Amino acid sequence: MCGIFAYLNYCVPRTRKEIFETLVKGLQRLEYRGYDSAGIAVDGDKNTTTDGINNNNIVLIKKNGKVKALDEELYKKDCMDLEMELDTHFGMAHTRWATHGEPSALNSHPHRSDKNNGNTHSPLVTFILIPTLFQNSKGYEFESETDTEVIPKLIKYVYDNREREDLSFSTLVERVIQQLEGAFALMFKSSHFPREAVATRRGSPLLIGVRSKYELSAEHIPIQYNTGDHNRPDIANAVNFAEDGKAVEYYFASDASAIIEHTNKVIYLEDDDIAAVVGGKLSLHRLNRLAGEVPVRAIQTLQMELQEIMKGNFEAFMQKEIFEQPESVFNTMRGRICFDTNKVILGGLKDHLKEIKRCRRLIMIGCGTSFHAAVATRQALEELTELPVMVELASDFLDRNTPVFRDDVCFYISQSGETADTLMALRYCKDRGALTVGVTNTVGSSISRDTDCGVHINAGPEIGVASTKAYTSQFVALIMFGLMMSEDRISLQTRRLEIINGLRILPELIKKVLTLDKNIKSIADELYEQRSLLVMGRGFNYATCLEGALKIKEIPYMHSEGILAGELKHGPLALIDKHMPVIMIIMRDACYTKCQNALQQVTARSGRPIILCCQDDPEVSKNAYKTIELPQTVDCLQGILSVIPLQLLSFHLAVLRGYDVDCPRSLAKSVTVE
Ligand code: F6R
Repeated sequence: MCGIFAYLNYCVPRTRKEIFETLVKGLQRLEYRGYDSAGIAVDGDKNTTTDGINNNNIVLIKKNGKVKALDEELYKKDCMDLEMELDTHFGMAHTRWATHGEPSALNSHPHRSDKNNGNTHSPLVTFILIPTLFQNSKGYEFESETDTEVIPKLIKYVYDNREREDLSFSTLVERVIQQLEGAFALMFKSSHFPREAVATRRGSPLLIGVRSKYELSAEHIPIQYNTGDHNRPDIANAVNFAEDGKAVEYYFASDASAIIEHTNKVIYLEDDDIAAVVGGKLSLHRLNRLAGEVPVRAIQTLQMELQEIMKGNFEAFMQKEIFEQPESVFNTMRGRICFDTNKVILGGLKDHLKEIKRCRRLIMIGCGTSFHAAVATRQALEELTELPVMVELASDFLDRNTPVFRDDVCFYISQSGETADTLMALRYCKDRGALTVGVTNTVGSSISRDTDCGVHINAGPEIGVASTKAYTSQFVALIMFGLMMSEDRISLQTRRLEIINGLRILPELIKKVLTLDKNIKSIADELYEQRSLLVMGRGFNYATCLEGALKIKEIPYMHSEGILAGELKHGPLALIDKHMPVIMIIMRDACYTKCQNALQQVTARSGRPIILCCQDDPEVSKNAYKTIELPQTVDCLQGILSVIPLQLLSFHLAVLRGYDVDCPRSLAKSVTVE
């Protein structure tokens, strides 16, 4: 959870104001990862008098609330000369989503080693699970309630007890992380190592953007192993991004979306990598070389465009992303489906296809919306792969110690590719020898790197906390997997063709659904003061009920339940009366008659259902309080169309109820904690 952004300008003069602006902008791009408090650490003026935050020339400013509140706070510090030009400077910032310790300025990051005596090593930490081995034992006074704070205390302890060793900053960090357990991404800044930066990660993402006016001189950065600390190896083997070692800027971030406006050249850190910038030069090292490990990190070129992460004319990222779905699903299919030959090729899976076909069963694992994508496609996958398909919530899958075998194939569905439960399930299955397949939207994410093979859904960056376009792209990607698996099954060719033709026109049909926006807004006008909303359906549209209800819970904070219509008589029917708002999904598919049956039961209890149905369905419309008529498509793709009105409804309800659509309370985009 949380987001890190840090900026080091080497021989690139920047005013303090410009540095603040860069750091704040970086944090704002990451705010979707958490936004209950934020903090910044920069160098102070030489003679800045202490105001309680200046710590031996490192100034720490922290604020409860969103990044905007921190931004305002920065300009209140009249002890800071904003026009002062800093030729070389390292500043770091953090936006927090509380896990340990309430949201407050004190608990926000960065954390420091101590208040007064000038030994500030302030690390920024996304999340960490470590025993508080220090408290009460070494006489350190803790300021916050976060376990993170153990780290600056620990680095100070290592520094103070270094005896006569001349330890570099990165070696100090190396010694600290050897003692840590759990997941983290850390940036370190220290008054003992001015203008130097050290970054490291384990389990949480961290990447480095490099901007230099020279062509980047190295394609790959060599890694040093177990170098000890002789002769400051971080300098000796460092990569020089500028011919004369000058004028280079480094951007450290939890996510590429904070870097792309500065540079598209990035290096993704791997677990336990330690990156250090000393004298403008970047070096990477690790403690030990693992068997088979490639001793370099590639400099990659980001394909993302800045405009992809801007809101444009939309009120919120969620709204923008709902409306992007004609393009995002198209991008998921682009270059993978040949509509002339009806061939579907997912490049990341083709070498493993034989192995997958021989497997005992497919296990689809995810959380929240990503889990719903598995539920939505299960039936089609069973049909197309002729294999048993289990769908699993990652947390429950782990709680049950689910038996997993070498001949299982396990899919990890995750927009971010960083969700802790899903990642743990991945490690669990890897240990048991199963083939692991990632279905993610984030290139370079932990899940995409740690799986044996996978599919990138190519939906483009999803910034809104509520997942929308990632869901429809996950849906399409999983269906494409089924189509690829069934290519040589003669008995399935008619069905394959029907689905492929459905996919061909899908972007157009999504556009048609989006034209219903006004209609849906008027339904939201009627519903927004209600306390509760039930969403009912079955068969191919059951996942839409679950996903729609989740959207209505998380953004407008309205109680909502997705109900399997087949379960109506087993309990939920008791909730139905003329006051209970109900949405029913009744499409012309194999469950049509059964859904009509459920409709009768609802209307017989004076229920007033709003019905999502196919165009021109008088039979259903006559019993509806209101209808939302959708274009009809192939049954197993209908869920892609039926979920969109509920995404829109969630958006409008939240706006009408006065909530911040992109920053729902207590939620963050990337859930990197259990
Ligand atoms: C809901 C939502 C969450 C995520 C879940 C998994 O709108 O976004 O339910 O789907 O936290 O996240 P990923 O897909 O990143 O693993």
